[in-house]
Amino acid sequence: MAKRVIEIAAAAVLLAVLGGAAFAQADAIAARQAFMKSLNGKMGAVRNFATDAEGAKAAAASLNNGFKAFGGQFPAGSDAAAGKTRAKAEIWSDAAGFKAANEKAVAATAALVAATNSGDAAAVTAALGGVTGTCAGCHGAYRGPPVP
Ligand code: HEC
Repeated sequence: MAKRVIEIAAAAVLLAVLGGAAFAQADAIAARQAFMKSLNGKMGAVRNFATDAEGAKAAAASLNNGFKAFGGQFPAGSDAAAGKTRAKAEIWSDAAGFKAANEKAVAATAALVAATNSGDAAAVTAALGGVTGTCAGCHGAYRGPPVP
């Protein structure tokens, strides 16, 4: 009898753990996709530097913080088995390469923060080009086609 109770309790704990992991993976997918979808708007705000420098600074900081977090939004199992995601298996099989691609975006957005803080519009335009240059490098290797 006691053994049966322990078995049921153990099964309940296991279910709770597995359920929690599934939620964590779904949350990670949602968070990273929301950040990617926000990029164009944030870069647009930086492009408006001449008319709204404070807004541009805030957007640049948010881009930098977002890419710092982005690298950690790919927990094991948050792949196509966990939900609708374009994340390719290479993100996990070539974790070092993915981390390097993300570090480029972190560095490019750090340069963007410095440029918006400098007040130099030409520097902001150049740094924006650097940020845009990191998108395709990562997508080519680590983002799959749209999921219908
Ligand atoms: C380090 C890799 C990496 C970098 C850098 C990167 N992306 Fe992504 N992007 C991804 C991955 C992986 C996905 C798929 C995420 C998913 O579906 O879970 C994605 C998805 C997207 C999506 C589709 C979002 C959706 O769910 O509809 C857009 C739009 C996007 N990226 C834009 C950009 C832009 C613009 C840049 C450059 C400023 C950029 N990305 C830089 C890896 C990256």
